[in-house]
Amino acid sequence: MQRLIVSDHTWQSLLRLKGSAGDVAGQDRDDPAWQVYSAIARPSPASFVVAQVGQSLDGRVATISGDACDVSGPDGILHLHRLRALVDAVIVGVGTVVADDPRLTVREVEGPCPVRVIIDPRGRLPGEASLLNDGGPQALVIRDRSACRETGGHIIHLEARDGRLSPSDILGALAARGLHTVLVEGGADTIGAFLSSGQVDRLHVAVSPIVIGSGPAGLVLPTITRLDEALRAPCRIYDLGSDILFDLECRKSGTG
Ligand SMILES: NC(=O)c1ccc[n+]([C@@H]2O[C@H](COP(=O)([O-])OP(=O)(O)OC[C@H]3O[C@@H](n4cnc5c(N)ncnc54)[C@H](OP(=O)(O)O)[C@@H]3O)[C@@H](O)[C@H]2O)c1
Repeated sequence: MQRLIVSDHTWQSLLRLKGSAGDVAGQDRDDPAWQVYSAIARPSPASFVVAQVGQSLDGRVATISGDACDVSGPDGILHLHRLRALVDAVIVGVGTVVADDPRLTVREVEGPCPVRVIIDPRGRLPGEASLLNDGGPQALVIRDRSACRETGGHIIHLEARDGRLSPSDILGALAARGLHTVLVEGGADTIGAFLSSGQVDRLHVAVSPIVIGSGPAGLVLPTITRLDEALRAPCRIYDLGSDILFDLECRKSGTG
């Protein structure tokens, strides 16, 4: 397993790559940090989606009572902030905003903050949510056309089917606003919807060596009965320091 250390030189190259149309000279392509992050930083004409979960050894992201603060170790948190800095937009479901009141900004590394996107089909987003009131980067709220409650943020209305919004419609609406590289940060329901509709290019699972024993899972997918139906994607494994990163290359189906 390779140790993933992000030197200042590589980080600056990644930020330049994000801001440029072309490639970056003078960068070691075999550097594990370049291998992990350059696909995400590279400007893309089509949507490029990375989903990330920070979880315990037993696959949980919080306690039963909802304490989710310290599941990832410090290097897992750094990894998450690097992903935020390299994408155009970060997506969460409204369940995460209600549970954690996250800011979704970049605070642990140098780099720009992404546009914040909340999937809130029925208008459950609390008006006092930090990301609507902190004066930070733009907050876009994706809502079903039939839900007319205004809670702040810039609202994008899409057509829900059986109460569910299509991830490809969401990505299309973001692409129309120039937001092509996207981090789906959670929670389980939201990542599950993007994964099962074939819209994820990379799945990053950062595992922290703690055992919680009970509590919500980081990822929920439709039930399967046989293990040969399980998601098995080419995977690289990196030692982040406090956490281990599984970097899965998912095959995009482009449907739904
Ligand atoms: N460790 C991590 O990496 C991490 C990251 C983020 C969150 N979390 C944890 O995850 C938990 C929350 O996860 P969760 O699964 O309960 O909630 P969630 O995924 O944050 O939000 C789910 C809700 O968002 C809406 N939604 C998401 N995708 C949708 C779609 N395609 N179409 C329609 N609606 C959609 C629905 O809202 P409606 O119910 O209103 O229809 C859905 O119930 C919290 O415990 C949080 O701490 C962990």
